[in-house]
Amino acid sequence: MTTIAIINGPNLNLLGTRETHHYGTDTLERINDGLNNAFKDRARLLFFQSNHEGAIVDHLQNLKNSAGIVINPGAFTHTSVAIRDALLALNLPAVEVHLSNIFRREEFRKHSFISDIVIGVISGLGPRGYHFAVSALLDIAKQPT
Ligand code: DQA
Repeated sequence: MTTIAIINGPNLNLLGTRETHHYGTDTLERINDGLNNAFKDRARLLFFQSNHEGAIVDHLQNLKNSAGIVINPGAFTHTSVAIRDALLALNLPAVEVHLSNIFRREEFRKHSFISDIVIGVISGLGPRGYHFAVSALLDIAKQPT
């Protein structure tokens, strides 16, 4: 079965209670359960969350057998050349997801270090953004290369 990696960066382990006006009230566990339920017949989802940049880089380096990557790098979106480089080295289709609309917030959130190297960006649609991203990656994985 196709494997899709779902990666969440710093502070996303606090979903449910963290700035609910931006991120909603679903916990990360609930979001991941919803994804597993929705895609159980179509994909094996590999979930990973870390507050540590190096741990995310290490994890990315071990994903060579995945068909695609869904990544919400949290605050590392706006700071991390290392995560960008790890994605470039991995060279798999990736979708960047943000729960909030980063373009409606502070200026510094408008720049992402990965938007120009992923196949698409979903921002502001809440947890359903992860669903759209997995769905898109499964469609792409099916296409002959
Ligand atoms: C976020 C947006 C980032 O700017 C922020 O640092 C996060 C979450 C989002 O999902 O909307 O931690 O990636």
